[in-house]
Amino acid sequence: MSNRSKTNPTSIQHVMTGAASKAAMIMASSLLATAIHAQSAAPTFYADALPLFEKNCAACHKPDGPRVGGITAPMSLVDYNQARAWAPMIRNALVTGYMPPWGAHQRHRGEFKDERYIDETEKATLIAWVDGGALEGSPNAAKADASSGADMPESGWWIGEPDLVVQFEKPVKVADNIEDWQPTIQMPVPEGAHTEPKWISKAELNPGGPWVHHIVSSHMGVGVPGRGPFTYPEGWGVLMPEDPFITVNMHYHKNPGEGTAVTDMTKAGFVFYEDGAVIDHVVETNLLPHKGWTIPAGDPNFEVNNTFEIEEDIYLLSMGPHMHYRGKAMRYEVEYPDGERETLLWVPDYDFNWQFLYEYKEPKFLPAGSVMHLSWWFDNSSENRFNPDPTVDVVYGPETTDEMANARIYYAPTTKRGIVVGEELPQDVLETARKAEQQRRENSELLVLGEDDTSWLLEE
Ligand code: HEC
Repeated sequence: MSNRSKTNPTSIQHVMTGAASKAAMIMASSLLATAIHAQSAAPTFYADALPLFEKNCAACHKPDGPRVGGITAPMSLVDYNQARAWAPMIRNALVTGYMPPWGAHQRHRGEFKDERYIDETEKATLIAWVDGGALEGSPNAAKADASSGADMPESGWWIGEPDLVVQFEKPVKVADNIEDWQPTIQMPVPEGAHTEPKWISKAELNPGGPWVHHIVSSHMGVGVPGRGPFTYPEGWGVLMPEDPFITVNMHYHKNPGEGTAVTDMTKAGFVFYEDGAVIDHVVETNLLPHKGWTIPAGDPNFEVNNTFEIEEDIYLLSMGPHMHYRGKAMRYEVEYPDGERETLLWVPDYDFNWQFLYEYKEPKFLPAGSVMHLSWWFDNSSENRFNPDPTVDVVYGPETTDEMANARIYYAPTTKRGIVVGEELPQDVLETARKAEQQRRENSELLVLGEDDTSWLLEE
């Protein structure tokens, strides 16, 4: 638990605690909307705004919207009354670029799955709709087709009915005085539910509440705001060894104080490949952490660099930059064996509150002998409104008041393995999977050393 900064507003906390101020804004905006007289040329909800909300926003902003790594969007934008109530905040979110949430630069348009860019003309139309008084218009103008993405399946899981569900043994209590806490928790696998190694095809975290700041967990990469369920491409998989437990490394972050305690009951669901399916690519991951630097107090633009050599031909599946509140920008570049360089990912305006995983539509081929050049930029000045303390030097560390420079990658060797699910497993694959699980446990123990409070296990 951190006893450093006590006031550290983040937009995640804002969502949790800002309900009252939001209500005030909503009332103000309704007054504003009625004060402005309708002009015939002004855009209306049904004719102009709704189609753009459906295209750009409704994948998340709809009734019973998806959990995006633990947070559900606070309102539906396919509903006129809600859209009107939120109009000033919609304007602000569009102008600042906060919504739709996405970190990859425009240059990457078309490269990654689930990308979220809004066209400038569409943005302008929505802003004009707000400025024109957020008019309703005639519902007849609405097009019947609502292409706002799929509805939550009845199972309650976006990945479909999971083959295996695990959860905490009992709710975890996050006490009043806790601001930052990273317990390692083992989720017991139900008796007889997972007696042999299985190939994961899909995985989803169902966090027990919006206060869950981020979760580092085995088999799922990192479950944080910005990440939905994880689906591997056909023929790609991760082997989950048989095990009585699934170890997760939780990270709770909230404002401490009287009455702020919460309980959490996070669940995880897995869909496995069926017997007979063929696994050609065994997914590997590397956090690529870079340590050993110090960001001077007050420095507005501190850069650190690292390189990583690619030893065999691989397909790169995805990239997940990770920094904390001082994180400003991040770049992955590749230098091919012939010396040519290419930017793989440029995140010009990194936002800690959205930890996206940038997943290629088509896995990217990187030949042996290529070198990855990784760069991170930090803003440790008082200009950075998220900065917990601009007066201190900062080094690599696990707490949100420390910093990190990670460049997670998911990838697989290009050589096809042709592993038939249900038949005997290649020994090397099994050993690697077991070793990886072992390491995760050891690493997480290191991470929580000295603050591994397991008293909740004993509490009622
Ligand atoms: C990937 C899912 C997703 C998409 C797409 C998305 N939003 Fe959001 N939005 C969220 C979530 C989750 C929150 C709550 C978290 C937050 O406020 O930081 C949110 C919050 C907001 C807020 C409240 C911001 C605040 O300051 O509290 C507004 C306004 C908003 N969205 C507007 C939009 C608009 C307009 C679009 C489309 C142009 C859009 N969003 C697209 C997920 C999404």
